[in-house]
Amino acid sequence: MRAMFTAGNGPVQIPAETLANRVKELGAQIAQDYQGKTPHLICVLNGAFIFMADLVRAIPLPLTLDFISISSYGNAYRTSGEVELLKDLRLPIHGRDVIVVEDIVDTGLTLSYLLDYLEARKPASVRVAALLSKPSRRQVEVPIHYLGFEIEDAYVYGYGLDRAQFDRNLPFITSLHPEEE
Ligand code: XMP
Ligand code: MG
Repeated sequence: MRAMFTAGNGPVQIPAETLANRVKELGAQIAQDYQGKTPHLICVLNGAFIFMADLVRAIPLPLTLDFISISSYGNAYRTSGEVELLKDLRLPIHGRDVIVVEDIVDTGLTLSYLLDYLEARKPASVRVAALLSKPSRRQVEVPIHYLGFEIEDAYVYGYGLDRAQFDRNLPFITSLHPEEE
């Protein structure tokens, strides 16, 4: 049987309390920037679901939200850059102030595809909130307006992010040692 809530041996470790504090800061920043507006938050499933749940509760504004699911092909740990839409939006975004909520920006290919997809639907504005970013892996430049943490290149999981579909329920972020990938 798998032991629950076991941290990996990798270089990136973000405790639950550190995550909670940073997400509250991002929420406060968004609330300040969108004062008088009604932002529409779009959660990129599956990895961003816990970040989204905590973030919206840290934004004391009227807001709406929706979910989209896209998959980047590749093996369990690395994207290939090819993107497929698995679940579309339910609500229209025309004229809305959209905030995309992503778990992690790695090469940037997934987010770049998604931003093109959203822009085609003519929202009033689009910004990105990402919990994590690995700048050393970037292949295309993408704007991140609200960033939780910049991390080094390690495979991270927990707090919504998976390790071969498991460990999304870890309350912290942890990472694999490079030799385990
Ligand atoms: P790109 O390379 O398109 O990748 O920016 C974005 C998507 O790839 C997944 N990804 C990860 N998932 N731990 C994960 O659990 C990681 O370290 C990691 N790096 C990339 C993720 O789905 C992200 O949205
Ligand atoms: Mg993802």
